[in-house]
Amino acid sequence: MKNKISVIGAGMTGSTTAHWLAERELADIVLIDILEGMPQGKALDLSQALPVIGKDSKVTGTNSYDATSGSDIIIITAGVPRKPGMSRDDLLTINADIVRKATEATMHSSPNAIYIILTNPLDTMAYLAMKVANLPRERIVGQAGILDSARMSAFIHMETGVSVENINCYVLGGHGDEMVPLTRHSNIAGIPLREYLPADKLEAIVNRTRKGGGEIVALLKTGSAYYAPAVACAQMAEAILKDKKLIVPASAYMQGEYGLKDMFFGVPVVLGAHGVERIVEYSLDESEKAALQKSAEAVKATTDAMLNLVKF
Ligand code: NAI
Ligand code: 2OP
Repeated sequence: MKNKISVIGAGMTGSTTAHWLAERELADIVLIDILEGMPQGKALDLSQALPVIGKDSKVTGTNSYDATSGSDIIIITAGVPRKPGMSRDDLLTINADIVRKATEATMHSSPNAIYIILTNPLDTMAYLAMKVANLPRERIVGQAGILDSARMSAFIHMETGVSVENINCYVLGGHGDEMVPLTRHSNIAGIPLREYLPADKLEAIVNRTRKGGGEIVALLKTGSAYYAPAVACAQMAEAILKDKKLIVPASAYMQGEYGLKDMFFGVPVVLGAHGVERIVEYSLDESEKAALQKSAEAVKATTDAMLNLVKF
């Protein structure tokens, strides 16, 4: 296959990302993990699934970074997930070290790769990887907004019964409980959500969306969500490889947009062959601006904590 995508971390999100990527026949896939045998076993299993669906992606499982060389896209999922009662920020110390190592191990042999970061705390891990590899902002993006928006869409679908194809939700901000579901911009077949649903129902969905990750952690007890985060990564990779100019909410490095600087934050971005090609600025009212500011302060605090921890 012409393109290569390396997925670092072959746990729940990494292997499920490989699954969605292979199903879309987007590229050859390298699945890498520190656990011996595990990425090899998962890659073999996935390779044996592909004849059934007629897809020719080559899937390689390995413990060595050699196979990642020349990747077009590197997706970092390596790290520890939450346990019940933990916040994403509780993962900072351990995951900062893992993301730093994964970035250092890939950046020289894949000098043109675009990085998609999934590891939590997401916005801060994307910032860390950008600094470690000294990447231009186009070449690094964090996955959060597609997942958070899809969660909101799923809850709207459960409430209304309308096809998910008609539901368009937009969640911006940091990937934490202060994220900002934009009810004014979200709609069902063009009808604003605020007209379609009573205010109390909409507010309940907004709150459930904000805590959507924690709801799944509490149910699973041993890890966090993986189907939806993984398909979100696959959608981003597809937009990049196919140069789709797809506008999705994702975590990008801010250079003054939305009044924010020197941090990663969830905003609408245009994804194409060059990665993050543009940040789209919505016009926001005062309450939306205040909600984004609150979310930005939470992200900034975690990023500052990381900067006290890691020396570049
Ligand atoms: P998992 O525990 O199933 O898999 C993580 C894998 O990383 C493990 O197999 C582990 O052996 C591997 N790993 C650890 N250190 C490594 C290293 N140095 N190099 C290569 N592999 C290494 O966890 P899961 O569910 O896949 O989650 C991974 C991360 O993604 C967590 O931090 C989680 O919080 C985050 N996440 C973020 C989401 C988002 O929307 N941004 C959504 C879901 C998860
Ligand atoms: C989620 O929102 C764990 O961040 C992950 O499900």
